[in-house]
Amino acid sequence: MIFFEILFIVFVICIFLFFIKFFLSFWGVFLILTQNQYILNMKKILVTGGTGFIGSHTTVELIQKGYEVVIVDNLSNSNINVIDNIEKITNKRPIFGKVDVADKNQLFNFLDNHKDIESIIHFAASKAVGESVEKPLKYYSNNINGVINILEAMKHFGIKNMVFSSSCTVYGQPEQLPVTENSPIQPATSPYGNTKQINEEIIRDFVAANPDFHCIALRYFNPIGSHPSSLIGELPIGVPANLIPYITQTAAGIRECLSVFGNDYDTPDGTPIRDYIDIIDLANAHIAAINRMEDNKQKKNLEFFNIGTGNGLTVLQLINTFEEATGVKLNYKIVGRRAGDIEKIWADASFANSELGWKAVVPLKQTLLNAWNWQKRCANIE
Ligand code: WQD
Repeated sequence: MIFFEILFIVFVICIFLFFIKFFLSFWGVFLILTQNQYILNMKKILVTGGTGFIGSHTTVELIQKGYEVVIVDNLSNSNINVIDNIEKITNKRPIFGKVDVADKNQLFNFLDNHKDIESIIHFAASKAVGESVEKPLKYYSNNINGVINILEAMKHFGIKNMVFSSSCTVYGQPEQLPVTENSPIQPATSPYGNTKQINEEIIRDFVAANPDFHCIALRYFNPIGSHPSSLIGELPIGVPANLIPYITQTAAGIRECLSVFGNDYDTPDGTPIRDYIDIIDLANAHIAAINRMEDNKQKKNLEFFNIGTGNGLTVLQLINTFEEATGVKLNYKIVGRRAGDIEKIWADASFANSELGWKAVVPLKQTLLNAWNWQKRCANIE
């Protein structure tokens, strides 16, 4: 009798285990199916200049939000290793093509193999203000041809949406602060700034003639910081022209002393005021812009948004915050004004906040710490 009872219990356990196994197999198949479904639904985005500072951080955020990213970059101001590091952060490798967007044949040949792209984020451009004064034709050639080719590609390949990388430089020295998107566009103070203004006009004329196409131009203020992983960041070639890389390189001992360009401006401590925006916040503004176009929420088929924090900081305030955030004392001296610098500018970002549903959230100290950690990694400092 007891033998039959044991046999029965073993039988029941076997049936139970069988059902568990059956359920797990079913669950496995379900997961595979839903994952494939997810892959099938991934939207493909072309990121031009995707190995650069803003492009690489935006690529990471796009991948993490489920987009498939195709990068084109001519690597004139960036390194191919950035692709490896994007993969390390996201566990996904973006498709990469070494393409100069200013060369229409190169761009079209590449896009012939990627016909399912739905949107473009166009970063690829030359961006050094000082160099643009010395080599204006390089800037007009790269930045104007780049935009024309991208717009022609949109038409040819039926790509409906574009986010364009614009700049607060279009406002020059504004008479009223903070600047809104309706503040007057002032004559550019450099060929670089002029290319951004001309680019905006070219896009305006293009969408007027082709109302099926959509564009959002994001006017960035001063992008700074680095990915918190320290795997990607800003990599200026040679002596940095911008403030943050100069600060971090001075802190790392690569530069002896930071020169603060002028303390006789009409600001609380005499040094110029800027609106410093974290690179991850900036990257996320692009995703908000892409979502707005995908969801058909645009009110006009070309819209402009100020992408800043809404807070202005003087150079000395920024240096103090850097010292507080990192605990590193910075060697700096006050020197004369830098030619072409404007006195003060910061954003009214309320239009982006309400319409894009986007807001800068990363605290400045965290941004500066990230920039410092990136610099330490680049310079092998513990
Ligand atoms: C910031 C402040 C300098 C270096 C950049 C781009 C511009 C636009 C906005 C995108 C200024 C001071 C700097 C140094 C210093 N963005 N400074 N010592 O000039 O606001 O412009 O961002 O298109 O195109 O170039 O940025 O970082 O050069 O300067 O005192 O060694 O830091 O005078 O007040 P800028 P920046």
